[in-house]
Amino acid sequence: MTRVLEFADAKRERRRISMVTAYDAWAARLVATSSIDAILVGDSLAMVVHGHPTTLTATVDLMAIHTRAVANGAAGQKFLVADLPFLSYRKGVNAAVDAAGVLMASGAHAVKLEGVDGHEVVIDHLIGSGIPVMGHLGLTPQSVHRLGGFRVQGRTASESETLLRQARQLEALGCFAVVLECVPHGVGRRITESVSIPTIGIGAGPDTDGQVLVLTDLLGLSERRPRFARSFVDGAGVLLSALNGFDAAVKTAAYPAESECYR
Ligand code: KIV
Repeated sequence: MTRVLEFADAKRERRRISMVTAYDAWAARLVATSSIDAILVGDSLAMVVHGHPTTLTATVDLMAIHTRAVANGAAGQKFLVADLPFLSYRKGVNAAVDAAGVLMASGAHAVKLEGVDGHEVVIDHLIGSGIPVMGHLGLTPQSVHRLGGFRVQGRTASESETLLRQARQLEALGCFAVVLECVPHGVGRRITESVSIPTIGIGAGPDTDGQVLVLTDLLGLSERRPRFARSFVDGAGVLLSALNGFDAAVKTAAYPAESECYR
């Protein structure tokens, strides 16, 4: 996918959407040559790349640096969504437009923000300014301290009603898609059936319109993975064996070979 309208097409035609995170140019190049539909420059980069315990340390400047790197690597071959970081859209419409403008100027095709209550005016204004907005409901990591940890959301009837109301509100505001993170399977299905915009699940069961995963989880490079995050390759094993292979070749003088030397 390279255009925002393809998200709506996919839902209408019942084609599932695949999305992964990328934080740098080499990963983006890899994803760009795959059949994956879209790339998310997630603020999870604060945890995955920078080793912080939460996403709260991501800033607009940091997101801009990674968004530019990903845009360079993807070279226009994939639709690219960048996360608006913690509090960047809570300081009024002008600050939110500035933050989104920086990410769009860095190569994003859309921005994602968490929650909806209290952000209605901002979302409306961003979309009205020509910036496609993706919503994010359920476990919203920027609210980890209010939620009391990285926990499944929407388990009670009233929580699940709230999530449905919020998804409908994002749809009404004109968001082109919504991420549903860590909600029970039935809640993912109900919201997906109730809104016309695509739902992209992460720990929301198999019935959402698409799925998103953090790239290092998918590649088997994460030390700890949540229950929903399947690794599709033992990346750590493969890479470790390459590193040990290099080390052994250096120590036995098997590397470099004649063909790897300049005459
Ligand atoms: O930051 C991120 O990686 C995300 C995904 C978990 C959806 O928002």
